[in-house]
Amino acid sequence: MEIIRTSRLILSELTINDANFIFKLYNDRDFIRYIGDRGIASVQDAESFILQGPINSYNINNYGLCLISLLDKKPIGICGLLKRDKLDSPDIGFSILPNFRRQGYALEASRAILNDARERLQLTKILAITSSENIASIELLLKLGMVYKKMITIESDSKPVQLYSIQFN
Ligand SMILES: CC(C)(COP(=O)(O)OP(=O)(O)OC[C@H]1O[C@@H](n2cnc3c(N)ncnc32)[C@H](O)[C@@H]1OP(=O)(O)O)[C@@H](O)C(=O)NCCC(=O)NCCS
Repeated sequence: MEIIRTSRLILSELTINDANFIFKLYNDRDFIRYIGDRGIASVQDAESFILQGPINSYNINNYGLCLISLLDKKPIGICGLLKRDKLDSPDIGFSILPNFRRQGYALEASRAILNDARERLQLTKILAITSSENIASIELLLKLGMVYKKMITIESDSKPVQLYSIQFN
């Protein structure tokens, strides 16, 4: 289901038909380095992930990670809101396939997601987490108007990450 259309992108709910794409994206070197290894070793794993992650979140929260496609329907990445037990507000996440980076697509998709969070979902605060080494992500968060808050540890066995926040009035 299409959620948002911007001048160059379509953001839609993920379905299990996107498993091939998710398998590819989640095994990208930078994705694993900066976001982590989600253990998606096959297209079947990707199907299970889509069901238990994004689709479950659409049902519970009314939001979740979306597929980003070009207007010709070519999938290029994901962007959307996540709800983590450890954080009191939803956080925004994004990832773009290497060939489509540095063309402003993550910025365009993220702005649309933040706008949707404020207008449709009536949320007042959105967070973001990123590793301190992830310069692309940090620059993007700052461009979105997000503000650095502090370092936090999301999982007890993982490295501390930077927490950003944006508040809507
Ligand atoms: C982070 C990521 C999503 C950015 O996607 P993108 O589509 O290339 O980003 P955009 O083209 O919209 O860039 C918007 C702005 O972000 C900043 N930026 C993006 N990539 C950057 C880079 N490699 N180095 C420095 N700044 C960068 C710039 O300010 C850029 O604006 P500019 O191009 O006018 O200078 C992409 O690099 C990615 O998928 N990385 C791997 C997954 C990941 O780390 N996700 C974030 C986890 S927190």
